[in-house]
Amino acid sequence: MELRHAKPQDSAFLVEMARLACTLEDRPLPSRDASEVLALLPAPDAAIVATDDDGRPLGAAWWHIHEPPLLRDATGEPVPELVMAVVEGERRKGIGAALVDALAEEAAKHFSVLALNVHIRNPAARLYTRTGFRVAGAGRGWFGVALSRALERPSISDATSSHG
Ligand SMILES: CC(C)(COP(=O)(O)OP(=O)(O)OC[C@H]1O[C@@H](n2cnc3c(N)ncnc32)[C@H](O)[C@@H]1OP(=O)(O)O)[C@@H](O)C(=O)NCCC(=O)NCCS
Repeated sequence: MELRHAKPQDSAFLVEMARLACTLEDRPLPSRDASEVLALLPAPDAAIVATDDDGRPLGAAWWHIHEPPLLRDATGEPVPELVMAVVEGERRKGIGAALVDALAEEAAKHFSVLALNVHIRNPAARLYTRTGFRVAGAGRGWFGVALSRALERPSISDATSSHG
């Protein structure tokens, strides 16, 4: 499995991942142009895609600024929200956890906190608590829970080494 930044040609795949992310596994998928799907799509450069060795996309994670945001930071700025999904048949192999960690590392270059909304019945909540997210309050709708994770800014030595 490899992780890379999303490219323009990933846009249809990201729509499929957004459809998966906005419902529960036992419910029908919303249509590609449903407003809740469009509202989840990432800004350019905000998504990471996991692929197999042949380059086939297996999953994606990204942040986006939701309106209204789930949470605001100490300065009143909206906290970016994590969205992710892995294609059926490739789940429970660690791809989701790898995507969360890669996205948190990337998001830390821009933000100090990452949030997400999870349905109380979504088993993904276990993955999130395992990867450092904690309950931050009520989420969206009757059954949404807001989770957040503090992001570690890259240290000076990390920043230096990334420039070679
Ligand atoms: C959530 C999701 C991205 C996890 O991806 P993944 O590659 O399976 O993640 P990992 O293999 O790293 O971790 C699997 C963990 O996810 C959790 N999980 C997610 N869905 C699960 C399910 N249907 N049954 C059991 N555990 C599930 C569990 O904590 C599991 O680990 P555990 O068995 O050790 O407890 C994937 O299940 C998915 O795409 N779900 C549909 C879309 C979705 O719900 N997105 C999140 C919206 S908030």
